[in-house]
Amino acid sequence: MTLTIKRSDFPEGFLFGAATSSYQIEGHAFGGAGSTHWDTFAATPGNVARAENGARAVDHYHRYPEDIALMKEAGFDMYRFSTSWARVMPEGRGAVNPEGLDFYDRLTDSLLEAGLKPCATLYHWELPSALADMGGWTNRDIAQWFGDFAEVIMGRIGDRMYSVAPINEPWCVAWLSHFHGIHAPGLRDIRAAARAMHHVNFAHGTAIERMRAMGIKNLGCVFNAEYALPADDSDGSRRAAARYDAIFNRFFISGVFKGAYPELVLEGLEPHLPKGWQEDFATITAPLDWCGLNYYTRKLLRETDAPWPSYEEVPGPLPKTSIGWEIFPEGLHHFLKMFNDEYSKGLPIFVTENGTAGFDPIENGRVQDDHRIAYIDKHLHQAALALSEGVPLKGYFLWSLLDNYEWAEGYDQRFGLVHVDYESLQRTPKASYEALKAALAA
Ligand code: NOJ
Repeated sequence: MTLTIKRSDFPEGFLFGAATSSYQIEGHAFGGAGSTHWDTFAATPGNVARAENGARAVDHYHRYPEDIALMKEAGFDMYRFSTSWARVMPEGRGAVNPEGLDFYDRLTDSLLEAGLKPCATLYHWELPSALADMGGWTNRDIAQWFGDFAEVIMGRIGDRMYSVAPINEPWCVAWLSHFHGIHAPGLRDIRAAARAMHHVNFAHGTAIERMRAMGIKNLGCVFNAEYALPADDSDGSRRAAARYDAIFNRFFISGVFKGAYPELVLEGLEPHLPKGWQEDFATITAPLDWCGLNYYTRKLLRETDAPWPSYEEVPGPLPKTSIGWEIFPEGLHHFLKMFNDEYSKGLPIFVTENGTAGFDPIENGRVQDDHRIAYIDKHLHQAALALSEGVPLKGYFLWSLLDNYEWAEGYDQRFGLVHVDYESLQRTPKASYEALKAALAA
């Protein structure tokens, strides 16, 4: 199977990349990194499938030259990776781990040597345990701790980054982790969630201001979005979908680009926001150079009698990936338009993540992941459609380069273009990798 769309269908200079994150691939046990809240969350029974963690992951810490060679060989232009806070500052504050800084320095130089643009995300979810002990994202001081980390890591590698974003997927950092309890720290508490939501935005703005002052270039943001559809034709389901859309798709981007939170969110969260939250918008709206979108799926919602936000998800009828997410490529087009029309208004946009999970068995040394080729193909067509309508889309990153640690799902949901044998750690490019390689050369 091949892709029906190729590089030459996109404008000259359009960039293609692969994305990963530190805890999911590096092997957190290596190189003097400190404990994180994902290590302790995974060690607590019932949180993560098979209680798996990122201690070894796919050992990118030692195997990064091979992984970079795979990207070069595929014809990618850029690589989106994240920098582990606890690898750089094991206690989250104060002492720096020189091995951690050296690692990101080597990684950066190796990327540049391979002709790949380094695109850093400063926080992709593994909060140092010492900061979690002090309340983590519920503590307002996290904005300054994060600003300090931004200065330390960018002080070392910032001169060579193509782009930098402070925080990956604020909704997951704040809501999924403090309201639903699905990700670390596993809280189910509306007050903690409200505080985390605001502090994530405040920390984002603080890091942008600090990096701007250091002269770091091309600063942006990475929001995730899920298309929210009423489960049926009732007013209740319409209200449910609108509230889901406001919490998931609009709270963070509206804070960053409009300096305001949606009414549909304030109606439930305002009593729980920290005092004086409005005053932080001066920092939260620090100007950006680009806006990133992570897109995977849609959700169907209906209203319930439970306390606010009074909605529940209803299984949808579309084909699903192995992780159970409906495949709805039109949503990518929807959010590219929405981000540009309502929020980022003409700033360059990047699809910072898009991709699909599979079980992807290896048979006779091959992984024939036609489902992934079809998924990528449909989504690239939606990206091209948005471009043809004038959305200033500049690039597209596949999630992910390698099979890796899929958080609470553990290791068996495989998102990679490259298969990893979790025993031997051998890398085997899947059929989707070969299909992309051909499309990027055409
Ligand atoms: C979003 C996250 O940024 C990433 O860490 C995760 O693995 C993928 N989506 C797939 O769920």
